Amino acid sequence: MTAEADAALGAAATSLLGDRRLIIATNRGPVTFASAADGSLRTRRGSGGLVTALGQVGRHVPITWIAAAMSEGDRRAAADPKLLRLAAGDDAAIRLRFASVERPVYEQAYNVIANPFLWFLQHQMWNLSERPVIDAAIIRAWERGYVALNEAFAAAVLAQTRSDRRPRIMLHDYHLYTAAEAIRRVRPGAVLSHFTHIPWPPSSIWQNIAPTIREAIARGLLGNDVVGFQTERYAHNFMRMIASFVPDATVDYEEWTIRRRRRITHVRHYPISIDVEATRRIAGSRAARRRADQLLGGTRNQVIVRVDRLEPSKNILRGFLAYEALLQRHPRLRGRISFLAFLVPSRTSLREYGDYGRKVQNAVDLINARFGQSGWRPVQLFYENDYAQALAGLSIADVILVNPLIDGMNLVAKEAVIVSERDAALVLSETAGAFDQMADGALAVAPADVVGTADALATALAMPVEERRRRLAKLRRGVEREDITWWLRRQLEDLVELTG
Ligand code: F6P
Repeated sequence: MTAEADAALGAAATSLLGDRRLIIATNRGPVTFASAADGSLRTRRGSGGLVTALGQVGRHVPITWIAAAMSEGDRRAAADPKLLRLAAGDDAAIRLRFASVERPVYEQAYNVIANPFLWFLQHQMWNLSERPVIDAAIIRAWERGYVALNEAFAAAVLAQTRSDRRPRIMLHDYHLYTAAEAIRRVRPGAVLSHFTHIPWPPSSIWQNIAPTIREAIARGLLGNDVVGFQTERYAHNFMRMIASFVPDATVDYEEWTIRRRRRITHVRHYPISIDVEATRRIAGSRAARRRADQLLGGTRNQVIVRVDRLEPSKNILRGFLAYEALLQRHPRLRGRISFLAFLVPSRTSLREYGDYGRKVQNAVDLINARFGQSGWRPVQLFYENDYAQALAGLSIADVILVNPLIDGMNLVAKEAVIVSERDAALVLSETAGAFDQMADGALAVAPADVVGTADALATALAMPVEERRRRLAKLRRGVEREDITWWLRRQLEDLVELTG
């Protein structure tokens, strides 16, 4: 980040916050607590793009970060100021608090509604002939789990605002669609924004679900002054959804506003990004450098790399099918390329994720059995949450495969172009939010097109170094310009301008 960008962010923060802290609320926090064998609590970094991006916000702005108590350890820590201080570590700018509900309530919110239901809905991953089935159990989980968790978040936020009549609050993601309405009831003057990190699908998708649920989501979000999305298309889809399902709202497509009961909600898009310096620092650490050397292990092979949570929407299976097709159609590549897949465990208590994980492992085993030779394993799979290792992997890639079915943004694509040391070529789904910013330098693929993805991998592997360098330089400049500071600054400036 340049000194100029730093100063601009500082100025935006001061004019929005004065001497307040920014309150950020997210489901997953920067750390989670787990009990060690001796009964003590240990902290672990939260995984995923949202934590990666927001973790850097505290470097620029003092924040109170309210996260859901996801584990038993978190629930214990929620009431223990000493542990909460420990969680913030050296980072005095971040004050951590938990919104804590009893375990069964949280399970309903996270493991029944947020992930299997809203996530699948918004990533359009349902096999509609069979799912979803909105039965009494879903309605109960919505009311007693999801809405209850949102109420708990509202209470935790309000506890931090004390007598401030205009606290500045940023809510995040699909776990927290109804919290704004609950906060607004108590603190009508609050400055509230919500940012949805995942796709916002067209109204026809929302049409499938119970009107009570979709209307509560719509009304809840209209409790905010600003609602933000990753791309213009998602923002537009949101306005159309409101026009379809909230009869007393007036949508102005030119002004990007929604008026309901004398309140105005501004609809904006802010593509999220990464902290370029922090990413470089971790990728350049001694541990990451050592790991990069080990991964290369003296090979002269060209290396294809992917980094993802083990997640059905990431389209990992078709990625392997494409690699298999590549080896099938280009026998001369056998023994000369390697595919390193760094997959991070995610939502392991959900059946869909367990099933998907097994299919991924099978696909890898099949490819290795079919094409492997002595001294050459076509695919190496790493299944762990090791961020430095993942960046090390990206740094040594010749080709980076990012082929999600659909993705709010996808920060791996952005991390990859920053840490690449071999002028990697980026193969990127047209359906990733990141594609809107990266189309110029990437090789585009349609996610279901396995043949096209195999061709794109072949093109990337054969691409002259000069062209790879040119494309990467362009992508890198884009990420450096539109980084996490830019994402945050634009939101803070909008909040000043639109709510001032
Ligand atoms: O925005 C999507 C998100 O909530 C991000 O935090 C991250 O990409 C991922 O999903 C993490 O999911 P979970 O917190 O359920 O592991």
